[in-house]
Amino acid sequence: MRLLWVLPLLVEAQNKSFLHRCALGCDCQEELKQANCARGLLRHLPGPLPPLTEHLDLSQNQLSHLPRRAFLSTRRLKTLLLNDNNISSVADGAFSPLESLLKLDLSRNRVAALGAGFTLGLGSLRELALAENRLTALRSHGFQHLDGLLRLNLSHNAIGQVQVRAFGCMSTLRQLDLEGNRLRALGSGVFTMLKSLEVLRLQGNNISHIDIGVFTPLTSLALLNLACNQLSKIHFKTFLSLHTYSTHILLEDNPWHCDCDLQRVFRKLGSVRRLFLDDYSNLSCAEPPELRGYQLMEVDAELCIAETVTVLIITVTVLITVVAAILMAERKRKSRKKEKHWTDGASQMSYDS
Ligand SMILES: *[C@@H]1O[C@H](CO)[C@@H](O)[C@H](O)[C@H]1NC(C)=O
Ligand SMILES: *[C@@H]1O[C@H](CO)[C@@H](O)[C@H](O)[C@H]1NC(C)=O
Ligand SMILES: *[C@@H]1O[C@H](CO)[C@@H](O)[C@H](O)[C@H]1NC(C)=O
Repeated sequence: MRLLWVLPLLVEAQNKSFLHRCALGCDCQEELKQANCARGLLRHLPGPLPPLTEHLDLSQNQLSHLPRRAFLSTRRLKTLLLNDNNISSVADGAFSPLESLLKLDLSRNRVAALGAGFTLGLGSLRELALAENRLTALRSHGFQHLDGLLRLNLSHNAIGQVQVRAFGCMSTLRQLDLEGNRLRALGSGVFTMLKSLEVLRLQGNNISHIDIGVFTPLTSLALLNLACNQLSKIHFKTFLSLHTYSTHILLEDNPWHCDCDLQRVFRKLGSVRRLFLDDYSNLSCAEPPELRGYQLMEVDAELCIAETVTVLIITVTVLITVVAAILMAERKRKSRKKEKHWTDGASQMSYDS
């Protein structure tokens, strides 16, 4: 009799503990393996979540720190959204047991540096978003362990320095977004290993110098966006070294120095079949002052005129000199012949007499 009275209580307690496995501030749909804790004003990571959760949304909260092994109890995660928080520190190994994680979004936080162990245990990751943070530099091998990454978004940080082999081992990466950073130069070796890269977004930096061989490793590149930088001149070989099937290159909103050299580079690039200068008609001149504001396409036919005139003058001068020399020689020959003829005649005459 007493036992029958206790039984429903036990069942209820079990139900309660089951319910409690979804932390306060979260909405768990166990059949879908989802936990939605977005927009919850969370300042700390939530309590227990169903251990089989695969998709965890913690976006738009007020998280500021991710400790080591922060997601130990939900190690089957495939998607982890941490975007739009206030995260400034990520401990080494924070994502350490997440061996199934495919997508990690840390966009719009305050991350200023990535520790050497940031990527520990993220060997399955396909997509990493770190857009709109405060990163200033990418260290050599900073993204190790990310051997299967396809998309890396580092746009709108303050990255001014990218060390050689910063993207080392990312031989599967297809998209790299570095838009809106503070890069000034692209040095050789920066993009080594990125042989699968298809899209490279570099627009909105301060790039004024590009080493000639820097794009050579990018044998799959289909789109190279260099718009909105500080380029005033380029070398033909910089783009010729792209050994791809076909690559579209964007170069508008750069302060081009419109002279004959530039015109020649673009004319030669235009004749390379695999390269497409999609926005050539939008390129405008910043230098020399008399061409400021003109579109390169409007003036390109005239840029080499001065050179052409000089070449013409030199050619004509040389021609005149040569012709004059020939004429002089001819005249000399003739007058010598005449002289000879005259002397011969004279001797004949003396003989006759
Ligand atoms: C975000 O974190 C900074 C310190 O890193 C703190 O000063 C600021 O108040 C935090 N903002 C919010 C909205 O929590
Ligand atoms: C990178 O992130 C920014 C900001 O979230 C977004 O606007 C941009 O489209 C992303 N880049 C790519 C290639 O998806
Ligand atoms: C050229 O610039 C115009 C106006 O800014 C824009 O609408 C157009 O898409 C640009 N063309 C290319 C090929 O980028």
